Formats: sequence, structure tokens, C-alpha cells
Amino acid sequence: MADTFYQTKISGTGHYLPPKLLTNKDLEKLVETTDEWITERTGIKERHIADESQASSDLAYEAAKIAIKEAGLTPEDIDCIIFPTVTPDHVMPSSACLLQEKLGAKNCMAFDLTAACSGFIYAMSIAHSFIQTGHYKHVLCIGSEVLSKFVDYTDRGVCILFGDGSAAAVLSRAEEGEESKIYSRHCYAEGAHGKLLYLPMGGSAIRPSHEAIEANQHTVEMNGREIFRNAVRTMGKAAQTTLETNGMTKEDVDWFIPHQANARIIEAVAKHIDFPMEKVIVELADIGNTSAATIPIAMDRAIRDGRIKRGQNILLAAFGGGLTSGGLLLKY
Ligand code: ACO
Repeated sequence: MADTFYQTKISGTGHYLPPKLLTNKDLEKLVETTDEWITERTGIKERHIADESQASSDLAYEAAKIAIKEAGLTPEDIDCIIFPTVTPDHVMPSSACLLQEKLGAKNCMAFDLTAACSGFIYAMSIAHSFIQTGHYKHVLCIGSEVLSKFVDYTDRGVCILFGDGSAAAVLSRAEEGEESKIYSRHCYAEGAHGKLLYLPMGGSAIRPSHEAIEANQHTVEMNGREIFRNAVRTMGKAAQTTLETNGMTKEDVDWFIPHQANARIIEAVAKHIDFPMEKVIVELADIGNTSAATIPIAMDRAIRDGRIKRGQNILLAAFGGGLTSGGLLLKY
């Protein structure tokens, strides 16, 4: 086993967005804001909102079925489910285990991963290690979020940004002769800035109480300006490091998929690393920020509409609460 070294390919992708929409015009009725303000500051026009009965594992189930089918596999073929989310169904059991049961994926380990919006790159990074070493052959990475249940719809700085959605990629061992691979990945954490994007309640730090709910500790708190600044800095660094490690420049990369938090952050990151916007995939206007699901949703859309083709080099970069960040370069 020690000498075994396999390559990793994306064998299938899929995404699911709940049908209900929350438009900027709808938000105008909830908070003091305008469609023009939101569009100009974020690039977001509408977001998908889960039905009250839907939790993250329900959205994930829809996306996972598609990705597993696209990979030409059945749920029994999956060796491991890695489920990045900041909006799990419960603290316990994990959403990954709930999904495992729903899928009938009987032969796998399953766990949740908390790295906020960098979660999908963290998940792909771990999946790659399992595959590289020969430990596993097929790993389902699935980002799924129901952020609408954790957003304060009276806080206009936050409620305009987030939506619900899910997307999956099956990472599989590349067979001999296949050129698909992950060149490298780089994941970082900066816990010192943890409170810039913060969900106080839901863990062991704060006992659930009427007082805590009255104080809105069950919803997302954010310092928008500082998040913006750190997003550009850390995503820029992650993308740059990933390119430099592989001796590549923007000319070698066909598509850049950054975390889809808002259009101004994406444009600032592209400028920071001198990357042309024509090669940046932006799928934000009709989805908003779906945290761990944004990168795989954007990737799946671009694969389905033919922008991303086999053999192309794709750069991913993300930034999220924690703070976390990461970069990953792959040949699709
Ligand atoms: N509509 C109208 N006015 C608003 C709104 C709104 N929805 N939200 C804030 N404002 C007001 C503020 O109250 C403030 O008013 P004041 O000057 O009277 O105090 C004014 O607009 C400017 O506020 P700022 O916070 O400085 O506005 P900014 O230009 O920074 O835009 C925004 C706010 C869009 C949140 C911006 O900071 C941002 O994009 N930050 C990044 C946040 C983000 O994307 N987070 C996603 C989560 S992070 C992740 O995904 C990893």
C-alpha cells in the first residue's frame, strides 16, 4: 500500500435547487433595501429557498442521485460520503449518515465536515487523499445548505446574500491511460478571525434558551466589510499558491471557479491574481451564496452546458467562515 499512488478524476456531478424563489423585489418588502442596491453590491437577483419540510440531507439526496448516475455507479459503489455543510439537519446524527440511509449506500463511511464556504475544497482534498493512497475508489463529496433557516430576515446586510442548494461530485480513481487528475490542493485556516462570520447558537457554547433566541443568537452574524477584505486576500492567495505550486499561469487554466459569495468579491479576486473575467465561471445571479454548494453548483452547470470539457484545466478557490480557505487545480 505504501507505494500505491493513484490519480483522482471527477466521474460525475449533479446539483439540486429547491423550486421556491426569493427575489430582490420580495426582499424589498421585508427590509429597507432595493433591487438596484442588491444587484449593484452583490450581483444577486434571486435565491432558491427550501420548503419548510426540507433539510440539507433532502436537498443532498436529489443532487447525489444525479451525480452517482452520471458517474455510471450505484449507491452501493460509494466507499465514502463527505458532506460539507454549516446547516446540517441535526448536530447528531450527521447529515452524511442520513444521506447514506436515503441513498441506500450500504458500503461506506460517512461524515460531515465543517469548513463553511471552503467545505467543498476541503472535502475534495480529503477524498483525493483517500483515492491517492488506494484506500477508496469512489468518494461522494456533497455540499448542501439550507441557509434560509439560519438567516435573520430583518438583517438587510445578511439576508440579501444567502440561498439554499446542493451539489455533488463523485471523485473516483482514474484508470490507467486517463488523463484526468488533481494536480494539487492547498487548504488553510485562520481561527483568529472566526467571529467575522458567526453562528453563535447550535453547539455546546450556548445553551438553547428563550433569551438566546430573543438575542438572535440562532442566526448568522457577519461583519460584511471585513469578510469582503479577507475573502479577496485569502482566496487570492489560495489561487496564486495553487498556480505557482504547479508552475502554471493564467494561460494554462481554462476556467477559474471561485466561491460564489458575491460578484464584487469574484471580480476583486480575479483582479488580484490578474485573471481574465472571460475565463471565470459566475453562477450567482439566480442562486445567491449557497456556502459549501456554490463551487459544485457552478461546476456542474458549466459541465452540463458544455463550457467545461474533458482535458481542460480548472482552478477552484474558496473562502469561508472559520476563517477557512483553499485552492485546488484539476484536469477535468
Ligand atoms: N440595502 C440597502 N442598504 C444596505 C443594505 C441593503 N441590503 N445592507 C447594508 N446597507 C447599508 C448599510 O446599512 C450602510 O448604511 P450606512 O452608511 O447608513 O450605515 C451602507 O449600506 C453601507 O454599508 P456597508 O456594509 O459598508 O456596505 P457594503 O458596500 O460593504 O456592502 C455587503 C455590504 C454587500 C454585505 C458587502 O460588505 C459585502 O459584499 N461583504 C461580503 C459579505 C459576503 O459576501 N458574505 C458572504 C458570506 S462569506 C462567504 O461566503 C464565505
